Amino acid sequence: MGTDLHELLTSLRVWDPELTELPAFDPAAAPAEPLPLFTRWFAEAVAAGQPEPHTMSLATADAEGLPDVRIVMLHGADADGWSFATHAHSRKGGHLAARPYAALAFYWPVLGRQVRVRGPVATAPAEEARADLRARSAGALASALTGRQSEVLDSPEELTRASEAAWELARREPDTPAPSWTLYRLRPDEVEFFQGDTLRRHIRLRYRRSPRSSREVWSSELLWP
Ligand SMILES: Cc1cc2nc3c(=O)[nH]c(=O)nc-3n(C[C@H](O)[C@H](O)[C@H](O)COP(=O)(O)O)c2cc1C
Repeated sequence: MGTDLHELLTSLRVWDPELTELPAFDPAAAPAEPLPLFTRWFAEAVAAGQPEPHTMSLATADAEGLPDVRIVMLHGADADGWSFATHAHSRKGGHLAARPYAALAFYWPVLGRQVRVRGPVATAPAEEARADLRARSAGALASALTGRQSEVLDSPEELTRASEAAWELARREPDTPAPSWTLYRLRPDEVEFFQGDTLRRHIRLRYRRSPRSSREVWSSELLWP
């Protein structure tokens, strides 16, 4: 017997009070810039027990402008932007080379919160990518050394062989460079914070960087939910 997807879908709900606490959010008291609010919401997601709050959707567009999306890890968020790492020769790496612009989405259901970030993406200097990788686990290095991300895989055995060699190298020489592993920084020109509300009066606070300023000058406004 097949699963009745529709029945399952109608049995599920969003923000079950047993699992979710929807905090009050006063946008009038929000900081003038998005980074401190992101940092605060991130810490609150961690404190509330949100599993894997540092995973995010990364949307890119191909050379024709067609969209694509996948999950990656957040490596940092600071004055230089929101950072993530991947292979320059992966599908998304090709997209970013052709169109250096992306969008991120975080969803932290235990607090009914979503954050969306959009902006141009720059490649960090290779030395920073190396330092970022060195600071991570042997598994991260092994995965970076396995390489060929997004190429067609001829057989599972081929992956096992390449991965075993990469794990061996990662353990023996933890400073081995992974040349195509690249650190990217998205410098937002727009960041939106969404706080869910039980009466569906969700709060959406959008920050936009002033186009007339190269300095960090932000304006913010509310959006209809
Ligand atoms: C929880 C999770 C975290 C991931 N983190 C990364 C990451 O940080 N970097 C990365 O290249 N791929 C990561 N992936 C794999 C990507 O989702 C994707 O499969 C891969 O990068 C190839 O994407 P592409 O073909 O669009 O380039 C992660 C996947 C999951 C499920």
